[in-house]
Amino acid sequence: MKYLKLFFTICALAVFSAANAQELLVLSENHAMLRIPAGHKYLLMPVEESQEYDYIRVSVDNKLVKELNCKLAVNKIDYTVPLNLARVIKEEKGSEDAKGEIVIDITFNRSTGNPGGRMPIRNFACWKGTKVSNTFDITNREKWRPVYHHTPNYGWMNDPNGMFYKDGIWHLFFQFNPYGSQWENMTWGHSTSKDLIHWNYEGEAIERDAFGTIFSGSSVVDTSNTAGFGKGAIISYYTSAGQSQTQSMAYSTDNGKTFTKYAANPVLTSEIPDFRDPKIIWHEATKRWILILAEKTHVKFYSSTDLKNWTFESNFGEEYGNHDGVWECPDIFEINGKWFILLNINPGGPFGGSATQYFVGDFDGHKFTCEDEPTETKWLDYGRDHYATVSFNNAPDGRIVVIPWMSNWQYAAQVPTKQYRSANGIPRDLSSFDYKGETYLSVKPSKEVYAAFSKKATGHLSNACRVDVQLKGNATITLSNSKGEQVVISYNAKNEKISMDRTKSGEVGFSAEFPVVTTSPTYGKIKTLQIFIDSSSIEIFDAAGKVAMTNIVFPTEPYNIVKVKGGKAKVFNLAK
Ligand code: FRU
Repeated sequence: MKYLKLFFTICALAVFSAANAQELLVLSENHAMLRIPAGHKYLLMPVEESQEYDYIRVSVDNKLVKELNCKLAVNKIDYTVPLNLARVIKEEKGSEDAKGEIVIDITFNRSTGNPGGRMPIRNFACWKGTKVSNTFDITNREKWRPVYHHTPNYGWMNDPNGMFYKDGIWHLFFQFNPYGSQWENMTWGHSTSKDLIHWNYEGEAIERDAFGTIFSGSSVVDTSNTAGFGKGAIISYYTSAGQSQTQSMAYSTDNGKTFTKYAANPVLTSEIPDFRDPKIIWHEATKRWILILAEKTHVKFYSSTDLKNWTFESNFGEEYGNHDGVWECPDIFEINGKWFILLNINPGGPFGGSATQYFVGDFDGHKFTCEDEPTETKWLDYGRDHYATVSFNNAPDGRIVVIPWMSNWQYAAQVPTKQYRSANGIPRDLSSFDYKGETYLSVKPSKEVYAAFSKKATGHLSNACRVDVQLKGNATITLSNSKGEQVVISYNAKNEKISMDRTKSGEVGFSAEFPVVTTSPTYGKIKTLQIFIDSSSIEIFDAAGKVAMTNIVFPTEPYNIVKVKGGKAKVFNLAK
């Protein structure tokens, strides 16, 4: 007992050497505090991914400002993540430059990472790298980081959220973990782009609060000030994921840079635990806002004139489409006089895991009437890595521009990158086409994506290029490298099918679910196949929009050879 007391006293007095370094107070075998010296922008926190999450509470002048979960390194440092101290100070004091006493209170999870017994907290690997700093190095360290697809600078990303277009800028929010490259601490990150190719990270836009972490949702540009927060205000709805899932609102009067949470949150509630992912559209015929969200096995529609008070309209979907998983991230829009519901489902995809189905029909502002057979499932993309796809609000010229999350819940946390995990698929424009008496959604890469490639064929395959293949009939296209790694795309004109085989594409062993062949119907013959290659993805489209297949790959060196049997290939490299 005496020794134990002495041990705690020594620990409690322990101070890291440098005068302005943080002070570590070890308080028990699973509890410590860090007192942070004033005047620094970041606290750098070393992570070890194989650990369990530790629970961290950040206080300013003894007031709790922030809670997060982070896997602090015990045995080795995988990478470091920044805790934005300036933002914490601003949260409590109103200005980044204000003074305040910051204390980080850490409850360590001692269930893993310590097989040999209870390693004292003081010996944890994290302390070697825990430091205050005014910079955080985001220089890319990943060979598989895409060149022309959106990725977070660091940390984990899943669904695209709250996308809108305003004043020439595309705004993309996303499910973001700023404290590690695995799913946790859901926050809306924010990126902007003028051309849908080059993205700037704008920071964390909406952060966890008393109602929970911030799950997926949508934004609208309130051009006529229906909500009363100003003309052109951005109104965002998201799921507050706390003890239950509820829908909350936040608004922004500076184009998404900063948000104010609505005082009357939560706005919509349910007794069903899976109740999430609100998407809002303007319904011109009834001159009201419509909110669609997923409630486990179906979607729900609500209407509103002021974006604050919502009336329940109807449910759709219980008896329609695929139900092998939970319904998530719905969207609804009109194209060529018909209405389409996008509905993401996980698991239950055509090749396992996550995928996007859709329904065709009519929507009168109250109720969706489906024209597909209840047993029919239409998939938007026949790849393995296309999920949570939703559209931008207020896109120019009435376009329906969508962006997928380019991964699959089956292995998203295991893919062999560390600094960041997951990219978005290239932006696509949706339209419709008819085939054998049925209506389908067509998918084409957005014109901004084409504009990024050279006009003239360059002939050399690279890790950021597009290959156009003119097809006459059956064809096999093989992309390979000197290591013998390859992706094989096969078109069978008679069966009207196209497939992509990534079983030998490079690193495939990180998950048994990863090495697969994916196959898509082509709805008649296809003439021009377009293959978009980036460092860790291959997306194929038929130029007429009838085929979309999005798959990620991890070649140990870029594919530099293209062989085509049964067609002619032209290679276009990224121009800017
Ligand atoms: C879909 C999803 C959403 C949820 C979010 C949480 O990928 O499960 O339903 O809002 O991810 O990150």
